[in-house]
Amino acid sequence: MPDAMHDRLKALSETARTEIAAAQTAQQLEALKGRFLGKKGELSAVLGSMGKLPPEERKAIGEVANTVKGELEALLEQAQKRLEDAALDEELKGPKLDVTLPGRAVAFGRRHPVSQTLEDIVRVFSRLGFEVYSGPEIELDWYNFEALNVPADHPARDMQDTFYVDAHWLPKGVGPVVLRTHTSPVQIRTMLAHKPPVRGVMPGRVYRKDSDQTHTPMFHQVEGLLVDETVTFAELKGTLAAFARAFFGASTKTRFRPSFFPFTEPSAEVDVSCVFCGGKGCRVCKHTGWLEVLGSGMVHPNVFKHAGYDASKVTGFAFGMGVERLAMLRYGIDDLRTMFENDARFLAQF
Ligand code: FA5
Ligand code: MG
Repeated sequence: MPDAMHDRLKALSETARTEIAAAQTAQQLEALKGRFLGKKGELSAVLGSMGKLPPEERKAIGEVANTVKGELEALLEQAQKRLEDAALDEELKGPKLDVTLPGRAVAFGRRHPVSQTLEDIVRVFSRLGFEVYSGPEIELDWYNFEALNVPADHPARDMQDTFYVDAHWLPKGVGPVVLRTHTSPVQIRTMLAHKPPVRGVMPGRVYRKDSDQTHTPMFHQVEGLLVDETVTFAELKGTLAAFARAFFGASTKTRFRPSFFPFTEPSAEVDVSCVFCGGKGCRVCKHTGWLEVLGSGMVHPNVFKHAGYDASKVTGFAFGMGVERLAMLRYGIDDLRTMFENDARFLAQF
């Protein structure tokens, strides 16, 4: 009888070894564990029949059964480890890769047409020796208007054009505060910070209560300022003509029309020969052959006074151009507002 039980235990142990070694999944292992070591498993069955044995034999068989149990437990544990390692190896190999699949195109972003235009403008003036200066978009009324010789009753100060900022927290007498309506206040800041001579361009965002096909409430300007002992109107003309040729093409002509700005005297608005019809006249230029691109003039003595320059010792010219307008002309865009609608199909064309 004890020999028979020995044989049963030995057979059980061997079957278990083979089957555990062959197990391929965690579920299979779990099933084997139940089958051999579970409460109703094969080992329990062998031990259950031990009751009929005399006590001393029972003890001997019990020891063997315990050894088998310990071995099987160790084997199950090793097998589990083996399966886990295999799963990890598989995972580390990464996803299945089909190198014959056609590639997926990467969608490249691109610079906004306004940014491209602005950088191109600045680049042209950099080559002419201009440095780049900047100032705040939230500006004191003093820099935006007063220092630029814009009197208190000037229409440009009208609530209709200017966005005012609620700045009650400022000390009395410092405000009002506005969203700058042009880049011209940077002229004042630049002159206050630098002794003459000054030769700079000042690009940036400006804001006006304005919205139609050729006006948006936020747009960009590039200001230009050149101050030295003997700056003349001829230099203003030469500089802007050189810019127009560099920006629009060598055959571009420029035209200066008398105009008015409080901060320049004399003042001129500058037109370029229509880039669409070459000056023959078309719908875009309203059959005049010319397109207005910027305002300019010789710096007013009162502006020098506010900026701390001696108006009897220096002269200068200034200009301010609308970046979106130049972009419209360059790319043939007929509605300025499309630039700010963020339609990728539109923006991807430039
Ligand atoms: C000025 O803003 C002056 N500061 C320019 C200047 C500077 C003159 C230095 C003399 C010396 P004006 O308001 O005309 O001028 O605006 C200049 C340009 O900005 C216009 O020619 C136009 O191209 C553009 N612009 C004006 N309003 C808008 C708008 N709402 N949306 C888009 N572009 C605009
Ligand atoms: Mg104008």
